[in-house]
Amino acid sequence: MKLWGGRFEKGTEGLVEDFHSSIRFDQRLYKQDIQGSIAHARMLGKVGVISEAEATQLIEGLNGILKDVQAGTVEFEIGAEDIHMNVEKLLTERIGPVGKKLHTGRSRNDQVALDLRLFLKSEIDQTKSLLAQLTQTLLKLSEEHLETWMPGYTHLQKAQPITLAHHLMAYVQMFLRDLGRLKDTRKRLNISPLGSGAMAGTTFPLDREQVAVELGLDGVTLNSLDGVSDRDFALEFLANASILMMHLSRLCEELVIWSSGEFQFISMDDGYSTGSSIMPQKKNPDVAELVRGKTGRVYGDLMALLTVMKGLPLAYNKDMQEDKEAVFDAVDTIQKCLLVVEPMLRTMQVHRDIMAFGAKGGFTNATDLADYMAKKGVPFREAHEFVGRIVLHCSKEGLGLEDLSLSDYQAISPIFEEDLFSSIGIEHCVRARKITGGPSPETVFEGIRLSRQALDEL
Ligand code: ARG
Repeated sequence: MKLWGGRFEKGTEGLVEDFHSSIRFDQRLYKQDIQGSIAHARMLGKVGVISEAEATQLIEGLNGILKDVQAGTVEFEIGAEDIHMNVEKLLTERIGPVGKKLHTGRSRNDQVALDLRLFLKSEIDQTKSLLAQLTQTLLKLSEEHLETWMPGYTHLQKAQPITLAHHLMAYVQMFLRDLGRLKDTRKRLNISPLGSGAMAGTTFPLDREQVAVELGLDGVTLNSLDGVSDRDFALEFLANASILMMHLSRLCEELVIWSSGEFQFISMDDGYSTGSSIMPQKKNPDVAELVRGKTGRVYGDLMALLTVMKGLPLAYNKDMQEDKEAVFDAVDTIQKCLLVVEPMLRTMQVHRDIMAFGAKGGFTNATDLADYMAKKGVPFREAHEFVGRIVLHCSKEGLGLEDLSLSDYQAISPIFEEDLFSSIGIEHCVRARKITGGPSPETVFEGIRLSRQALDEL
């Protein structure tokens, strides 16, 4: 007999039973479900909807179930559909008819909305701590590589010299924003929908605020229809997770490029690389590639839930049962990725000499040569044109800008003086960019300090 079986003349088809049951995946919410039920039961007793003694019996029964589920001794039933009815059924089996009072003034619709909020709240905390660890590692690496010169790129063509610290600190900024988004979402989801009932609230004098306080929530939802049909918080989380994965994916893509034989900027630790079944020489950056690949999964989770929610009339619809697998998959995927990227970065070997050598070629100091001329009074656009012609000449001769002599330069223009060569030295090009946000070691050092501060506040 179903908990809702009263108005039915025959049972659910076996096929349907299997089709609509969610216990296979929503049993993951058992802890939140039982916590919510305990808070609800305590409140029912306090406001006198049930007796205090009954409330105590319910709470003891629920705590017993919690313990047994944790010990792995509880078998859930497909026939009881979902985690909510499985727990209620177990409770009544264990403590008798008083168990049937638990669901007074409550619906699975507000119950599941609560469970998912509580679940996401703790998973956001976990995700934030993993992301903070990764950010710490990047900060530490940046500190070590303030003077590791490397080429910066646009269009994957050499652009201007920077440092590895400056490059890594770009990811720190991204991850600080990701942390901020997660914090923001957590704040918004931290309210209780219990009391919304099926969709129209309830006539029982429930103390919604007390339930919220017991569950560590900051308040209650203000519209019962919205309380049961809002999944914005899950979508926000999935959107945050997607943006975070996009950042991880870009970082991993760079690691793949940098570890290629053509670049050789870094070597991945053996522990974070894999080999080939046929080519004995291979050492592949599979971990970084897989993180890049898993980004697609998380985007898929976001798209899945956006599509489920699109066009649903208020209030609850069974479609919404599809929210959980998307959320679970995204949670698992981002946490696994964060967990593996941190040590992969920490253990990689940086080939400073090859990076510094790369910083030199490709006329990465051409902008500085044009700037030199502009500082001596040549209009920048004209200087740009001049330097372009010098680059063309040098590239034909296989020379760098620093390989021409002072008299070569003076033959082009009398403005060139001895200080030219120090102005276009790679190190100087980096050190002179002291502007806020720029790559000079002292600027990046200050950026690390400010970012550490920001991290502490997230
Ligand atoms: N298992 C359902 C879900 O995950 C719980 C809510 C069911 N409510 C209902 N009226 N069928 O969404």
